[in-house]
Amino acid sequence: MTETTRRPPRTQLAPGLEISRLVTGLWQVADQERDGRVLDHARAAQDMAAYARAGFDTFDMADHYGGAELITGRFLEAARREGGPAATVFTKWCPPPGPMTAETVRAGVQRSLDRLGVETIDLLQFHWWTFEHPNYLDAMQGLAALRQEGRIRHIGVTNFDTAHLALLVRHGIPVATNQVCFSVLDRRAAEDMSTFCLANGVKLLAYGTLAGGLLSERWLGAAPSAHDDWSKMKYQRFVEAIGGWDVLQTILAALQAVGRRHGASIANVATRWVLDQPAVAGVIVGARLTEREHRADNLRTFDVVLDDEDKALLDRAFAASRRIPGDCGDEYRRPPFLTASGDLSHHLAAIPKVYRAEPVPGRPGRTRIDSGSIWEPVCGYSRAVRVGDRILVSGTTATHGSGEVVCPGDPAGQAVYILDKIAASVAALGGSLEDVVRTRIYLRNASDWEPVSRAHGRYFGEIRPANTLVEIGNLIGDYLVEMEAEAVVTG
Ligand SMILES: NC(=O)c1ccc[n+]([C@@H]2O[C@H](COP(=O)([O-])OP(=O)(O)OC[C@H]3O[C@@H](n4cnc5c(N)ncnc54)[C@H](OP(=O)(O)O)[C@@H]3O)[C@@H](O)[C@H]2O)c1
Repeated sequence: MTETTRRPPRTQLAPGLEISRLVTGLWQVADQERDGRVLDHARAAQDMAAYARAGFDTFDMADHYGGAELITGRFLEAARREGGPAATVFTKWCPPPGPMTAETVRAGVQRSLDRLGVETIDLLQFHWWTFEHPNYLDAMQGLAALRQEGRIRHIGVTNFDTAHLALLVRHGIPVATNQVCFSVLDRRAAEDMSTFCLANGVKLLAYGTLAGGLLSERWLGAAPSAHDDWSKMKYQRFVEAIGGWDVLQTILAALQAVGRRHGASIANVATRWVLDQPAVAGVIVGARLTEREHRADNLRTFDVVLDDEDKALLDRAFAASRRIPGDCGDEYRRPPFLTASGDLSHHLAAIPKVYRAEPVPGRPGRTRIDSGSIWEPVCGYSRAVRVGDRILVSGTTATHGSGEVVCPGDPAGQAVYILDKIAASVAALGGSLEDVVRTRIYLRNASDWEPVSRAHGRYFGEIRPANTLVEIGNLIGDYLVEMEAEAVVTG
């Protein structure tokens, strides 16, 4: 087959949704349009048509990728009018943390539907900035309702860590995909995330595969330099996190050595390595529409078959690198923020507190928070209390809103939800999880100790507060776990 008739292979992402394994990413549009720059939308839409005609007919974008949804709307409209190539559209909804009523969710999705000019979005991926705000569960339930209505074909998430992806799945939310950073530089997604996804039928969509273009011949042997496009600025932070420019060079050299064995480019080998990861359905490669395209080279990825010698060579180079900290998506939620700006300033003005601290009348130096439960005033307790530098958090269960039990039957999901609630409680009173000096865990079933303890370990691994773990035989309602915490604010 000639280069022009070859197309990227396809895969079934979810029932009724077949995609190209090489997805074309449009975050780059936001960079091309930044600081008031103007991208010619008509030309960009024509470029999208060229991608689609060549079989690169699956596009990834988001509500905040500049005019990407509008350009796509223009391209889709022309395709309908002129009988042009069909396309599959993934977009994302990334709202600021706050109440997620059914109307809020509908309005968020409707904006994308309008900009795209479609009745249904093929894959709507949800991003959430902090799990201390529990409203992500309301948002997911709202998205599930819109899916029932036919406005969304499939629901995905992006940058969810394994614990919260599992929580959603165990809570009964139909999540088809998780879009995460996955590359030869950032291999976190090959760990627990892949194990969970493979066991639960969730597919991974990988981005950052070419580190914004740093994983190419152009940078092999090059001196480090300042970058001015958002994508390279972002992945330069990943390079620092794995050990710096010399470590990147070691990995580039290994990619080149493997590429030489197959007559392939560095980009081909880097992409092939990610595509070979068993939980990965597709790789998203960013495109600078109207500027440059790399389709012919990227198609050659599918000629490469990595053998044991190749893998050993790559593994030796990987051994020179440090692991990116935490789990998938942590780079958006805690330092080191591995974003273009190094913080969230491109995305959010501030993250509002979940609870509001109130002074306790007649008790100077004492503050408390209420969660809004009708029982707190009736029974005479607070969600948490601060006295001087001490914060005491009440026994906390996985209760969402006014009484929904999160993850019935799943102790790990309940523990994760509880730990986020404790973190939000401590934060509202001026502390952080680092200040926690004691936790107590109550279990209904002693046999649940391990998943709950592992969840506790993920939050408190380095902090190591004193802990008590007890089986108490029964907890009120459908709860399998309850936890309380005590912190001393030292900062
Ligand atoms: N969910 C999220 O939080 C998130 C975050 C980031 C990205 N994404 C998605 O992932 C997409 C990918 O973006 P990314 O920022 O991660 O960038 P990327 O795909 O790692 O890199 C894209 C850049 O690589 C270069 N490139 C592509 N093919 C090449 C080849 N064969 N040889 C040499 N260079 C090649 C191009 O650079 P030039 O154009 O300069 O030549 C292109 O702009 C985004 O558009 C977006 O859809 C999602």
